[in-house]
Amino acid sequence: MVSPDDLRYTKLPLNNRATAMPALGFGTLIPDPVATKHATKAALEAGFRVLDTAERYRTEREVGEAMREVFEEGKIKREDVFVTTKLWNTNHRPERVKPAFEASLERLQLDFVDLYLIHTPFAFQPGSEQDPRDANGNVIYDPGVTLLDTWRALEGLEREGRCKAIGLSDVSLEQVQHIVEAASIKPAVVHVESHPYLPEWELLNYCQKSGIVLQAYAALGHSSEPKLLEDPVVIAIARRVNKTPAQVLLAWAIQRGTAPLTTSKTAARIRENFDVSALPEDAMREIRDGIKSTVRFNAVVETGVPGFIPRGK
Ligand SMILES: NC(=O)c1ccc[n+]([C@@H]2O[C@H](COP(=O)([O-])OP(=O)(O)OC[C@H]3O[C@@H](n4cnc5c(N)ncnc54)[C@H](OP(=O)(O)O)[C@@H]3O)[C@@H](O)[C@H]2O)c1
Repeated sequence: MVSPDDLRYTKLPLNNRATAMPALGFGTLIPDPVATKHATKAALEAGFRVLDTAERYRTEREVGEAMREVFEEGKIKREDVFVTTKLWNTNHRPERVKPAFEASLERLQLDFVDLYLIHTPFAFQPGSEQDPRDANGNVIYDPGVTLLDTWRALEGLEREGRCKAIGLSDVSLEQVQHIVEAASIKPAVVHVESHPYLPEWELLNYCQKSGIVLQAYAALGHSSEPKLLEDPVVIAIARRVNKTPAQVLLAWAIQRGTAPLTTSKTAARIRENFDVSALPEDAMREIRDGIKSTVRFNAVVETGVPGFIPRGK
């Protein structure tokens, strides 16, 4: 019999069969570099085996240093950790993809990543300015490249063996369907905001039917208002099962078949967030049917501008 405490070790097979992804993951969108490095080490020490970073977060160097130090201690090996990074909007032109990918690997001090994602479906004006704006402050997009053009460049990277799997982030169901229909390599992972206020059931259903893992970011609601961690349904379940609201939300996300990503700068919370146990079926139902609020915390899907990164960063 599987123990409820084994939930934290859940692994989801990827459709290219290259690897399986641990469901419970740690994100590194932390503004302070010193805090990023400490948190990444604390996450690995607590048991997290998925690390999520991105060119745009500017945390790849710190994540790379933290991994190197932990690997050098010898308790955790590179092959035990599933590392994801992402291609930024200014590098969507196919000829820019490989150099951007190589630069990410160099910052991470790695020979390969487990997953490479297109960070958003929006192509921005190519160049070194990550947030290109016109004189009126409007984002300058790049109409000269499609999401499929960029996807084909990622397929090339996977074929070369430089990343074990490829996927999409901040996409709509229609965009995923379009890529699945046109691609030679299907996305292994679709990475979107998802939690009880934005459950994305339709997208999850499509992904599960198509053998795609749905990775759910902001699984705890990103500390934004209205506070998901203070939702009365979540709090009541936490009291009943003797867990914290964060543990309830992460367990719910894993049990419904998604791969939640959470982030914390605090070692005690990082340990708390790995210490999840399976919820009883009635609690799963209560979260699904008893929470009626609908909130999207991150507006990145509308413009490609990252909602959780302050302008100018
Ligand atoms: N592709 C995209 O567009 C995209 C966008 C957003 C995020 N992401 C990824 O997803 C990751 C997770 O997203 P997120 O930062 O929104 O995750 P989250 O876990 O929903 O929110 C993090 C916030 O929750 C707090 N927190 C964490 N554990 C807690 C606990 N046990 N009790 C109370 N508060 C707790 C943290 O505060 P403290 O740090 O003070 O503990 C932090 O303010 C990111 O790091 C990033 O890797 C991707």
